[in-house]
Formats: sequence, structure tokens, C-alpha cells
Amino acid sequence: MPPTITKADLNLFLSHQPDILAIERDLIENSSSAYLIDEEDEMDFMVDAFRHGGYAYLVMENKKLIGFMVVGPLDDGTDLPDSVTRSFPVQNCLHIKMMYIKDTSKGMGSLMMEKLIKELDKDKWKYLFVRTWVDPPNEGAISFYTKRAGVEMVPDSIVEPTKTRQYFAKEV
Ligand SMILES: CC(C)(COP(=O)(O)OP(=O)(O)OC[C@H]1O[C@@H](n2cnc3c(N)ncnc32)[C@H](O)[C@@H]1OP(=O)(O)O)[C@@H](O)C(=O)NCCC(=O)NCCS
Repeated sequence: MPPTITKADLNLFLSHQPDILAIERDLIENSSSAYLIDEEDEMDFMVDAFRHGGYAYLVMENKKLIGFMVVGPLDDGTDLPDSVTRSFPVQNCLHIKMMYIKDTSKGMGSLMMEKLIKELDKDKWKYLFVRTWVDPPNEGAISFYTKRAGVEMVPDSIVEPTKTRQYFAKEV
């Protein structure tokens, strides 16, 4: 059976919590994704996106979770760089908060991104944002987002105070 991608509310998302954390832990250890994982903080961060009106997509294969994406408003109380607030209508920007796929480079990330863009509320969301590590660089994610997802680096948008992550965006 080919994998399926399903939109998920908070209850469905939380019912997969152990697999979500296991996928994330595995990819952090075995990919260029550099996030230092604190499982409680990670779940809080994702759940917070739902509380601000966000949602998720789950990738299932043979009834097992193999990937997920959590999106929510960019304008959720997080400090944003001036370069972002000056150049974008932040209330109309949707942010991919988390995206992890087991067995990378098999096309599921691209399919999930296509589904997200096709189904998002175009009256509300005008831009799609992602934020990823640039120092040290998350090469896999930067390559995926810029080559496959078509987002572009927002100039001068290194996230303060750590100066290690950077915003990327595209019009949807
Ligand atoms: C980023 C991610 C979600 C993309 O999903 P995916 O299913 O791998 O994406 P696709 O198969 O549709 O696209 C493949 C492209 O992504 C990039 N890519 C994915 N994994 C890569 C890796 N390990 N190294 C280099 N490039 C990679 C490449 O551009 C690749 O294209 P190519 O095969 O022609 O080189 C997934 O790779 C992942 O979970 N990575 C680890 C966690 C992570 O970094 N998440 C993002 C945090 S901001």
C-alpha cells in the first residue's frame, strides 16, 4: 500500500505522540537536522501551533506513522526579524513549524508540501514560511525547501539571539 497523507487535528496528532517523537529523535541523530531535542519542549511547541489555529499532516504507511508536518500562523507572539515584519503581511503568513519524514528523499516531503499548498485557505494565507538551521546548515532541509518547495531565503532574517536559524518564504 502506498503511503497516505491525512490532515490531523490536535487529538489525532496527539494519539501518535510516541511515534512523532521517535521519528524526530531518529532524524536528529541521523540527518543534518541540528535541533537539540527536549521532548517536552518539542511537544509544547507543536501543540502551541494548534492552539493558535494550526494543524498537521500525517504520513501513514501500513497503518504506521512515517512522517509529519505541523503548521501554524507565523504571527503567534514569536519575535520576528524586522526584515520579515517590514516586507510581509505577517497576519497572512503560514509557518511550517515542524516537518520530519522517515526515509528521506523518497518524494513524500514534496507530496506533503503540494497537499498543504493545495488545501490551505487562500483567502487567509498569502505566504508560506519555514525556518531552518543555517549555522550549522541543515543541508537536507535547505536543499528540499529551496529546490523542491520553491521557498527563498528572506535576506537579513537570521533568528535572534542565536543567529543560527534563518527564515525562508514563498508566495502561495
Ligand atoms: C526535509 C524533509 C522533510 C524533506 O522530505 P523528503 O521526503 O526527504 O523530501 P523529497 O523526497 O520530496 O525531496 C527530496 C529532496 O530533499 C532534499 N533532501 C532530502 N533529504 C536530504 C538529505 N539527507 N541530504 C540532502 N538533501 C536532502 C534534496 O533536495 C532531495 O532532492 P534530491 O533527492 O534530488 O537530492 C526530510 O528530508 C526530513 O525529514 N529531513 C530531516 C529532518 C529535517 O531536516 N526537517 C526539516 C527541519 S526544518
